[in-house]
Amino acid sequence: MRTIEWHDGTVVTIDQTKLPNETVILNLKNCSEMADAIKTMKIRGAPLLGAAAGFALALTAHHSRAASRDELINELDSAAKIIRATRPTAVNLFWALDRILGKARAIPGNAADLAAFVIEEAKKIADEDVAANHLIGKHGAKLIQDGDVILTHCNAGALATVDYGTALGVVRAALEQGKLVKVIAAETRPLLQGARLTTYELKRDGIQVTLITDGMIGYVMHKRMVDKVIVGADRIVRDAVINKIGTFTVSVLAKEHKIPFYVAAPTSTFDFTRTAEEVVIEERKPEEVTHIGSQRIAAEGIGVLNPAFDITPFKYVTAIICENGVLDKRYYSKFSSQLL
Ligand code: MRU
Repeated sequence: MRTIEWHDGTVVTIDQTKLPNETVILNLKNCSEMADAIKTMKIRGAPLLGAAAGFALALTAHHSRAASRDELINELDSAAKIIRATRPTAVNLFWALDRILGKARAIPGNAADLAAFVIEEAKKIADEDVAANHLIGKHGAKLIQDGDVILTHCNAGALATVDYGTALGVVRAALEQGKLVKVIAAETRPLLQGARLTTYELKRDGIQVTLITDGMIGYVMHKRMVDKVIVGADRIVRDAVINKIGTFTVSVLAKEHKIPFYVAAPTSTFDFTRTAEEVVIEERKPEEVTHIGSQRIAAEGIGVLNPAFDITPFKYVTAIICENGVLDKRYYSKFSSQLL
């Protein structure tokens, strides 16, 4: 099964907060159920958020009783507003909404034609994500040697996308080419996407994975246990890569140890209209840090910071792997140099 599917007016997906202990399938029927699933991170990962945003509009269109085209456009605008307010950092979510709404406004036809278009476009976004990930895998696998150990952070796998994954797509493609590749997964505090999701999906697919805590990354690099780092991205801006909190630390450690640091992401994650300073970094509730699961681990009444993402300046990024190929510093530093 893909991570997200359209079943004639219902969006079927997996509740990622319950993995790996339980496999709970969600059947989402409308935009507010989708918004709730995104906010509570039952659905997460930038490319998957793009597909989910598209399907939120598809659900709105499918169940609409709008009598006119204008009425349906208004309903779609209201649905998009709800989805835009869920999570601010991953650009794919905004990209998918803008793509569908922009095209919908331009096409002719009545409300029924428009609804059919929106549903098809949402499905297309999901299909294109799978195709992009396979291409990312194909391009990225050229950088991988037989026997490489790849460190990854958070979950940039099939679960974070519609299928196959970005960073883990590169691992899958290298294995498909017959290279023996192993993964070290950093647990990714506070929500443990590495421990819960990356290890789960790699184990499920028979890929060798070793779990470490975030604090062990320097140790494994110093001991030469890591050949390459590959991570995903939530937004690639003119001067930096924005990804799960902890990614910047991994990149600095990789540079210090002369380990290549690759970012694998589809072009739907690129946002070269902005710099990192102009992006809202999501701040999540303190309980995610003071608790592990439902268990409180910190003293009451303390200050807590919980930014969900951090900023990795381009100087730490060896190359960006996207569906169009491997983009080295010459490509993306031109966006930074235009800022000077
Ligand atoms: O908060 P999350 O779990 O949605 O964050 C996910 C990440 O940071 C991923 O690395 C990123 O979205 C890329 S997924 C291919």
